[in-house]
Amino acid sequence: MSPKADGQLRFPDVADLNGPILEVENLTTHFQSDRGLVRAVDGVSFTLDRGRTLGVVGESGSGKTVLSRSVMGLLQGNRVVKGGTVRYAGHEISALSPAELRQVWAVQIAMVFQDPMTALNPVVRIGRQVTEGLRIRLGLDRKAATETAVALLESVGIPSPAARLRNYPHELSGGMRQRVMIAIALACGPKLLLADEPTTGLDVTVQAQILDLLGEQQQERSMAMILVTHDLGVVANRTDEIAVMYAGKIVEKAPTTELFAHTRMPYTEALLRSIPRLTDPSHMRLRAIPGRPPDLVNPPAGCRFAPRCPYVQEQCRQAEPPLRNAGPGHQFACWFPVGSSEGEQALAYNLHHKVPAALAFTGTRADNALAAVPPEPTPTGDGEVAS
Ligand SMILES: Nc1ncnc2c1ncn2[C@@H]1O[C@H](COP(=O)(O)OP(=O)(O)OP(=O)(O)O)[C@@H](O)[C@H]1O
Ligand SMILES: [Mg+2]
Repeated sequence: MSPKADGQLRFPDVADLNGPILEVENLTTHFQSDRGLVRAVDGVSFTLDRGRTLGVVGESGSGKTVLSRSVMGLLQGNRVVKGGTVRYAGHEISALSPAELRQVWAVQIAMVFQDPMTALNPVVRIGRQVTEGLRIRLGLDRKAATETAVALLESVGIPSPAARLRNYPHELSGGMRQRVMIAIALACGPKLLLADEPTTGLDVTVQAQILDLLGEQQQERSMAMILVTHDLGVVANRTDEIAVMYAGKIVEKAPTTELFAHTRMPYTEALLRSIPRLTDPSHMRLRAIPGRPPDLVNPPAGCRFAPRCPYVQEQCRQAEPPLRNAGPGHQFACWFPVGSSEGEQALAYNLHHKVPAALAFTGTRADNALAAVPPEPTPTGDGEVAS
């Protein structure tokens, strides 16, 4: 394919794609700051096939938004230090000029931003915000753009769509604003949608409606989607695959059912334990994994989760575990994985020695771990246990 013979990028019909629509390889996005280099995204790799959904999950500050924006090619400027590659439908996004990126945005890759109140322009009517992309990127005239905008608003479940075009963002409810954001993102028929916390701040019922809507639109358009959230519960039955991020890295990635059935990484296990219950207030962020994520300017040596990990051993503080395979499509980074004999022994050792992080496990889980293996001696990871 000759990508830019006349300044126009060429994109294959997604139905003709042989490989993945998106390939991200060893992506790094660091920010220069007064304190030093903030390693917000630090060596992330994954691929996504057309029409598929990847969930990206992690606590606040783990790098999910920076990752999404990096995939879009949105992060520019001299304080941003970028590495690795992002390939979309055969084009290297990381190598495109601003003019070329404008041919990608909205039409090929679109994003539903985390906060609709800041992403929507407060002083511009909804109508103009929805029709803008249709007119500029697709070249529709005013009448056709308005008709399309009404149809779009209707398709995302906004009542009286023609009347809503005259409203300003603050005149709509949070749920309706979020639907407008989705309509804008879908307007030019993107093949890849990045949805960054599309339901944060909405109540549980509206949250479910918006996620269902995204799912329906995705099926209808056979669009690939990256669904970013801090809540593993949100992506549980809405994704094909899940990547768990911690401190700028993917620490576990697996097909969704596999991730839940055979969790290997203690951080994923901790996230699973923190899935909000129906009785929790809807605005609540991730519930109490003891401790805090590390400083991304000076991350700890070894595994970045070590200071908070119930399974931690000396080895974890010294050597960073590489991503390794645990079956088809399943990778994790841990020396003492959940469900392995060395993991159980590490946990039993920590429970026995009252290591604070291990005390997050109580009741039957702790009793079983202690009963299953003798607590001594200090385990070593990677399949071997010291004798
Ligand atoms: N422009 C920037 N300059 C310096 N640091 C930044 C910049 N943008 C983001 N960061 C830092 O990068 C890290 C990752 O931020 P990011 O917004 O990607 O987290 P997140 O996973 O999306 O969190 P949340 O769930 O709260 O949205 C944070 O420590 C943040 O402070
Ligand atoms: Mg974010």
